[in-house]
Parts: sequence; structure tokens; C-alpha cells
Amino acid sequence: MSNPDYDAVREDIKKIIPNKDWDDGSLGPILVRLAWHASGTYDAHSKTGGSNGATMRFHTESSDPANSGLEHARKFLEPIKEKHPWISYADLWTLAGVVAVQELGGPIVPWKPGRKDKANETECPPQGRLPDASQGEKHVRAVFNRMGFNDREIVALVGAHAIGRCHKDRSGYDGPWTHTPTRFTSQYYIQLLKQNWTTKEVNGQVQYKDDKDKLMMLPADMALVWDPEFKKIVEEYAKDKQAFFNDFAAAFGKLLELGVTRSSGEARL
Ligand code: HEM
Repeated sequence: MSNPDYDAVREDIKKIIPNKDWDDGSLGPILVRLAWHASGTYDAHSKTGGSNGATMRFHTESSDPANSGLEHARKFLEPIKEKHPWISYADLWTLAGVVAVQELGGPIVPWKPGRKDKANETECPPQGRLPDASQGEKHVRAVFNRMGFNDREIVALVGAHAIGRCHKDRSGYDGPWTHTPTRFTSQYYIQLLKQNWTTKEVNGQVQYKDDKDKLMMLPADMALVWDPEFKKIVEEYAKDKQAFFNDFAAAFGKLLELGVTRSSGEARL
């Protein structure tokens, strides 16, 4: 294809995002989660995993319990792939995350095309590379350090929990992190600091609830206020939305690029 029209793909992604039959009325959150889980398998040491390859099309990766529910996101994007068959799944999934962040009122995330779809199952990263929500700061740091992220980038990235919710039929956890789950805001940090979080058991798993039992946090979210270094950054982002937006855009753009190599002619900003 000599002149692939990425803007046309962006427009088609924008059109499917408002969806009154889905959760809080938007596909945005699950598209952001798809882009993140496609990319967050990266291991900087072995240089394996990451968004390049779209290996979540294969059983080894799609059946990782961490990816439960993402089949819906992949299915929603299928008609767009059919309409623009020249785009790789790896580019489509990452671009959908970027478009969703922007459509929900978040920052413009830098994105480049050029990912290629791997041909077979054997190229999947092993299961278990994505973070475990039941764990605390040590695990969260270890998983994101493995991808190549520092404390500031970790806290910025998890701020995406401003949007969307947990589902009993997927992770087993239940509820939204903020009162505005279809708006990309700094509310995640504000709520983390503001509410009196206490434990609650759902489906045999411990999560945290506010006093009115309207909002939730995962143990891995609470890690951001339990750890004093993380907490300083949470406090900064709660006060300074622009700092969060700038740092999120840079860190999410970096996440989507992990493990992506292109021949020079293919790179296009
Ligand atoms: C410590 C790291 C993280 C953990 C343990 C974690 C865990 C989870 C869990 C358990 C869910 C609920 C899934 C469901 O039941 O549907 C979820 C949803 C979500 N996560 Fe994370 N996550 C982490 C980091 C991130 C990052 C870095 C991003 C994006 C940059 C992200 C974006 C989302 C979004 C948007 C949703 C909502 C999906 C929806 O509404 O369908 N998460 N996460």
C-alpha cells in the first residue's frame, strides 16, 4: 500500500467509541486496556514481548487470565480492520488506545505506525508478565521496571484508572475508580488521597471501598499511596493535572513503542 490513510482509521475508531450499550456508555476504557496489555508484556532484558506482533491474537496470550475480557475490545475493532485491511493489528490496537485517550478528554499521545503482525503462536511472550492486582508496591515496581519504567512513569501510567471499571466476570474485581469513568482526568489521584479506603471482599478477593461504597481501588492501586516515593508523585498529579497529562502522554507513548523496531523508511510521525 503506497499511501495508507491513518487519519481515516482514526476517524473510524472515534465513531465506535460512544456506545450506549457498553458499561458507562463508552468503549474508550477497554480500548485503552487492550493497547496497554498488548504492550505491557515487554521485557527489556530479553527484548521480548510488547505491542509488535499483536500476539494476543493467539491462544497462549489471549488465555492469560490478565487478558480476560479483552476479546470484546478486539472484536469491536474487527470491522475497522476489515475496512482497512492494510493496517496491522498491532498498529490498530495501539492506535485505538491513543484515539480513546484523546476522545475521553485526555492528552495527545505520540504514536507511530510500522508494527507488524507476527505469524504464529510460538512468538507469544509467556503468560504472567502483566501486573497482579492483588499485590503491592514491590511487585508493581518490579513489573514496570522490567519494561523499563521509573517511579514517575509508573504513577503516571496507572492514572489511566481514572477511566473504566473492574468487572466481576473478568478480573473478578468490581466497580469504578472514579465518579467519571468516561472522562480522562486526574480524579484517580484525587480519590486515592481523599477517600477513607477500607477493605471489602468480592468473589474471594480483597479490594478497597470508599465510605459510600461507590468507588474501588485494587491493592496494586493502594500501593501508590502506601509507598512514600510513589505517594509524593500521586500528590503532585492530584494538584497538577497538566503535569499528569504531560507525563502520561510521554509514558503511554513509550509503552506502545516497547520492542518496536522499524526499518528507517517505515517510520512516520
Ligand atoms: C499496577 C498495574 C495495574 C494493575 C494491577 C491493573 C489492573 C487492572 C484490573 C484488575 C482491571 C479490571 C479489569 C476488568 O475486570 O475488566 C483493570 C482495568 C483497567 N486498566 Fe488497569 N491495571 C494496571 C495498570 C494499568 C495501566 C498502566 C493502564 C493504562 C495505561 C491501565 C488501564 C486500565 C483501564 C483503562 C481499565 C478499565 C477497562 C474497562 O473499563 O474495561 N491499567 N486494570
